[in-house]
Amino acid sequence: MPEIVTISDPDDERIADYRALTDVELRTRWEPPHGLFIAEGELVLRRALRAGYEPRSFLVDVKRVDQLDDLAGAAPVYAASQDVLEATTGFHVHRGVLASFRRKPLPTAEEVLGPARRVAVLEGLNTHTNLGAVYRSAAALGIEGVLLSPNCADPLYRRSVRVSMGEVFAVPYARLEPWPAALDRVRAAGFTLLALTPAEDAVPIQRLTAEQRARPALLLGAEGSGLTRAAQGASDVRVVIPMSHRVDSLNVAAAAAVAFWELVRD
Ligand SMILES: C[S@@+](CC[C@H](N)C(=O)[O-])C[C@H]1O[C@@H](n2cnc3c(N)ncnc32)[C@H](O)[C@@H]1O
Repeated sequence: MPEIVTISDPDDERIADYRALTDVELRTRWEPPHGLFIAEGELVLRRALRAGYEPRSFLVDVKRVDQLDDLAGAAPVYAASQDVLEATTGFHVHRGVLASFRRKPLPTAEEVLGPARRVAVLEGLNTHTNLGAVYRSAAALGIEGVLLSPNCADPLYRRSVRVSMGEVFAVPYARLEPWPAALDRVRAAGFTLLALTPAEDAVPIQRLTAEQRARPALLLGAEGSGLTRAAQGASDVRVVIPMSHRVDSLNVAAAAAVAFWELVRD
């Protein structure tokens, strides 16, 4: 059994990493500069450990300490009642287990691109749930790297991590800047830049040539605005997933899943 430290004061400094977890604005400003992120639930935290992230601490519902009994010595284990957990974090921690991890330095875009055959490039994705869902599909459907424009949300924010089911740890990613000029570096690494857009005049995805499919970098844009003109202009081909019934567009994570599957199946 790891040594368990019971915490009874929600303001105890030892669990300061877990304060106000529901305040997205505060957390997104605070976590990256402090080099940490929060994982929620046993499955997700074990994935982070397997991916080599170093835990700073674990915070667990006092009734569920047994779940972490093989993690002795990895980091301090703090146990608290649901009331204390809720007062600290701001929500009912129904998964019962939280962990705070140290971030790793991000690789460069070239380090992500070098070994990859297919990558996704995300522009302005600022919804954590969509970002997490894209990573989950990327991991499941053979996308070997993700590049993020500077204004994309943080993939290691708690909600992205949870929605991705921890797959944000499995797919290497880097920031790509300056934007969109740095898209040239993706092309220089041997990729064809495919700009995914619902526009009817784009090339239907199933009609891409073998050459265009060989080493694709799939650019996806945000809900609402979609890919900027600049990003579309910097790409090699504009590509559409044909839709029925005059539907305006797919959700970006749904579009990503369809496009990943279509380009991985050969
Ligand atoms: C909700 S859509 C944005 C809609 C926006 N009005 C537009 O015109 O792009 C979010 C992203 O999902 C992708 N997307 C959605 N539907 C698509 C489709 N039918 N074909 C290709 N990409 C699509 C695009 O990358 C788009 O930027």
